[in-house]
Amino acid sequence: MRQKIVAGNWKMNKTLEEANILASEITGMVADEVKGDAKVIFCVPFPYLLPIKNQLGNNGRIAIGAQNCSEHEAGAYTGEVSAPMLKSMGIPYVILGHSERRQYFGEDGKLLAKKIDVALKHGLIPIYCCGEPLEVRESNGHEALVKKQVEESLFHLSADVIKTIVIAYEPVWAIGTGKTASAQQAQDMHAVIRKHIAAKYGQSVADAVAILYGGSVNAANAKELFACPDVDGGLVGGASLKSREFTEVIKGA
Ligand code: 13P
Repeated sequence: MRQKIVAGNWKMNKTLEEANILASEITGMVADEVKGDAKVIFCVPFPYLLPIKNQLGNNGRIAIGAQNCSEHEAGAYTGEVSAPMLKSMGIPYVILGHSERRQYFGEDGKLLAKKIDVALKHGLIPIYCCGEPLEVRESNGHEALVKKQVEESLFHLSADVIKTIVIAYEPVWAIGTGKTASAQQAQDMHAVIRKHIAAKYGQSVADAVAILYGGSVNAANAKELFACPDVDGGLVGGASLKSREFTEVIKGA
């Protein structure tokens, strides 16, 4: 059985004070109310990594992650943050390849393969995002595109390494739109991704990979989505910014 994971992607939101309040409210609610053993991850803006990590202390339920890192290890890259920096701060997870990075910052599969490598080299666990835009879904190209996104950034890895990656399927048309993929649409694509990994690496490797769904996950739809056999939890944007809503999402896992 794969452990369920519910990761909140705070994106570029909240002041430091608001971030501290949000983290402390969710931490309290999770401790008091959440019965299951889903792993919770707060993927917070870079400046909040240490304060929120320090606030969490040795909380065994909730881990912390970054939202991006550079493909370079060090050097003259003003404004960038490297994987070794994250590692040195004790940050275990990093989101890579979010559709907003692909769309607004021109990140492509080749660049993301480099980011995956540098993150893994420094012991970080990548949460690798993939997903199709609306026009690709409408022209029925979604499965081919998502398979290509997985291949081009992950299929150079060894079986032992790809097992440790977290994949997040986030259809672009469902992100921040309130239009969630149906549980069937999510399950279908997750099964396609898992089958694609199995075809290259074998079923036991594919069975070990956590595949999260992202795109307008909320308290009302989380349970149904997370109950799908190939959906191992969620990567949650808007709903992760509200403590009560996010706690209810976690309860759905
Ligand atoms: P929303 O949950 O706001 O749709 O965002 C999803 C997302 O992009 C998580 O990475």
